Amino acid sequence: MLVTLEGLDGSGKTTVWEALHDVYPDAVFTREPTDSPYGEAVYRSIEDDDADPLAELFTFVADHADHLSRVVRPALADGDLVVSDRYVDSRCAYQGASLEGVVDRPVEYVRGVHQPFTVQPDLTIYLDVDPETAVDRSGATNKFEQFQYLSAVSENYDRLQEWMPERFVRVDATQSPEAVLDEVEHVIEAVVEAGGRRAAGYDPLDTGEGEREDYQGVGDGLGEGVRDPDA
Ligand code: TYD
Repeated sequence: MLVTLEGLDGSGKTTVWEALHDVYPDAVFTREPTDSPYGEAVYRSIEDDDADPLAELFTFVADHADHLSRVVRPALADGDLVVSDRYVDSRCAYQGASLEGVVDRPVEYVRGVHQPFTVQPDLTIYLDVDPETAVDRSGATNKFEQFQYLSAVSENYDRLQEWMPERFVRVDATQSPEAVLDEVEHVIEAVVEAGGRRAAGYDPLDTGEGEREDYQGVGDGLGEGVRDPDA
């Protein structure tokens, strides 16, 4: 089962992710950006205020593809619980904001880039903080941690949750760290007990295409000019 943690910078995701190590000692804990050479390229790009936004997107996507083949798919094939600190939704929300004005319907475009090859999470926990709190807590140390940018990122996360309500659970991350962790534990426990999305075993090659009809009415996740592989 794949659980992802999402949220703005300063939402406390990483603290929750670290605390969950004690709760699920047998789980595989992982994160994006990774610490692979692709992840290192991503961190260089994050520090570069003039990075080309499309080049940056595909650097993140390369890191994701490597993360899937090296960590996520093998762990899911072994039946492990995988908990990832950030995943595809971070790209949809953050690069969706960076690509505003560069491509049409950027959030859909970024989803469409991932759709043919990614593994859909069973559960995504969104640690909800307003952009102002996010900027205060993160200290605005890089180009992504600025108020206007994080406001756009926050709106993109809202849209993703509207499109896929069955996957997202929103947790108020302005509560005390203990209360946030309690709530997160409770949510994960409930989904683990229910056997994740598919009680009869997880197919790591599943790209979530089967759920597409759930998203009808909100577009197919494919940006203009991107060929629909099902068409
Ligand atoms: P991360 O190391 O998770 O930072 P933090 O622990 O502060 O949340 O991510 C680094 C930055 O990269 C963060 O500002 C969010 C951004 N990011 C993207 O823009 N797109 C992505 O796909 C990912 C995974 C992260």
